[in-house]
Amino acid sequence: MKIAILGYGTVGKGLVDMIDSNKEKRNIKIVSILVNNKSKHKDSKYANLITEDVEEVFNKEFDILVELIGGLNPAYEYIKRALESKINVVTANKDMLAEYGDKLVTIAKENNVSLRFEASVGGGIPVLKPLIESLEGNLIKSMYAILNGTTNYILSKMYDENLSYEEVLKEAQELGFAEANPESDVEGYDAARKLSILSTLAYDRRVYWRDFYLEGISRIDMKDIYYAKKLGCKIKLVGKSEISDEKISGYVRPVLVDNDSLLSRVDNEYNIVVLNGNSVGEVSFVGKGAGKEPTGSAAYADVIDILDKRVCNIDSFTKEKIEVEKTINHNCE
Ligand code: HSE
Repeated sequence: MKIAILGYGTVGKGLVDMIDSNKEKRNIKIVSILVNNKSKHKDSKYANLITEDVEEVFNKEFDILVELIGGLNPAYEYIKRALESKINVVTANKDMLAEYGDKLVTIAKENNVSLRFEASVGGGIPVLKPLIESLEGNLIKSMYAILNGTTNYILSKMYDENLSYEEVLKEAQELGFAEANPESDVEGYDAARKLSILSTLAYDRRVYWRDFYLEGISRIDMKDIYYAKKLGCKIKLVGKSEISDEKISGYVRPVLVDNDSLLSRVDNEYNIVVLNGNSVGEVSFVGKGAGKEPTGSAAYADVIDILDKRVCNIDSFTKEKIEVEKTINHNCE
């Protein structure tokens, strides 16, 4: 199996490390790696594969394109080009799936190739595949989640170590958790995009991220943390959605969660997704939601699924868009 990788940042390096450490078990050959600035990678073991020219990548022969550059463009254009050339795609790009998932899933279907995106939601937590496959017979009625590692890290450090918002944001960036533009993290856009991907797959309707009620954590200060503590609570950036009578409602916003609740025990860069299915009841998925190794692990698993020819049904993205009611109900989970 030959793969080309677009982007050699945090996740790209995590994926390449996993390919290296599993090379006795799985024969995956990297044929090309696209970067912005080649000089930064001159000491890399893969320096001979690294290029700044996307045409050089597409001139190679490969079976899977792994897109890890993020953002809408040119990522969309590259993924579309690969799918139309009958090349499978693995991506971690939640921005793009939340915006153009319907178009890309349609193109993948028309060309009979796979589009996989486990790394786009929940970092290293396997959640999309269990949701699509293992819970297939369930009607998912609702979900609540912590879906952004950066903001959870910031809120945890503010709570545990009395550090200021600005100090911890810098730390989260250095640890490789934050997006290139951290506004996506702190204003809740990243979590809302992930919630829309989960909701689309769970409710089998196309759910658009901007339709959720949306509020980030940039206005949370030490005073809020102080009062949360006094109330026996923590503040978490929570995403919640539910379907009832063919109507979907949902939000992403800071929520006071009781110290005894499940959500309050999910700290630092950890994420959690709690799904409520009609047969299974509540199931939770917890793990590291950001960072090199966890997210690399999710992208690696997608590559392996394609290698093993496992098919995943993601048709929900092509369903008609459903209206979402903005809601801010439920203060303390
Ligand atoms: N910036 C994202 C987060 C990265 O902090 O969760 C993982 O999607």
